[in-house]
Amino acid sequence: MSKPQWLPLIEQQLKENPKSVSYAFSTLSEEGKPKVRYVIHRGITPSSLLLTTTDTRMSKPVHLKHDPTVEIAWWIESTNVQFRITGKAVTIPSSTSSNSTENSDTLDAIRLLGVEGLEEGTKEYWENKRKELWKGVSGHLRAGFGRPTPGKQLDQVESSDNWPETIPAESDKPEEQKTIESAYSHFAIIAIAPEQVEYLELKPIPNRRTQWKRQNNGEWEETKVAP
Ligand SMILES: Cc1cc2nc3c(=O)[nH]c(=O)nc-3n(C[C@H](O)[C@H](O)[C@H](O)COP(=O)(O)O)c2cc1C
Repeated sequence: MSKPQWLPLIEQQLKENPKSVSYAFSTLSEEGKPKVRYVIHRGITPSSLLLTTTDTRMSKPVHLKHDPTVEIAWWIESTNVQFRITGKAVTIPSSTSSNSTENSDTLDAIRLLGVEGLEEGTKEYWENKRKELWKGVSGHLRAGFGRPTPGKQLDQVESSDNWPETIPAESDKPEEQKTIESAYSHFAIIAIAPEQVEYLELKPIPNRRTQWKRQNNGEWEETKVAP
């Protein structure tokens, strides 16, 4: 699989605009309706998969299980460019869980992403990546994974006075470690395998719009189109 031509463009944009890390991420609901929300970009793997994270109890994992088709719109304000990325995405939860559905999830994810035999082709790769990302997020964000199920009616969950405010990535204290493990069990990676990428540059006059489409042999075909 050769490096796609759009990858250095994203990397350069992120270097110039390190704060522009959120993009609109669209999935399809079980009824086939588009659902869009912002997520935080958490990295790019050696085989050019885009990573973000989520709570396994949110809607995104349900949508992706039903239909892996996704689209991202990523506007980088100061340089006035937009990336629109269409592809397939999967949720990768804990692979060490005793839950056999989750175990097969990682293998299914590897197959769907087309990374068998590559660096991202093992459960260990994803478990290490999940740990790395868990350590990299703030204690406040980590605590969110230990709170009541997102989307549940507020009067049906325990009082917010009891919700953890912040938690460390790991702890020597058994009670605290129990809370951490419960939160960590909900922490999942979403890996996105791009199939089409569109780069829109709004600064130059006339504006420029470039598209790439992944071919069956893994190469990317570039087309410049009218903006
Ligand atoms: C700037 C910003 C960044 C966000 N980042 C994430 C993220 O990385 N992962 C995530 O699951 N939700 C993130 N959220 C919250 C989602 O937009 C959304 O409200 C939540 O994930 C529930 O969506 P769902 O039930 O459709 O899955 C973010 C929201 C904003 C405004």
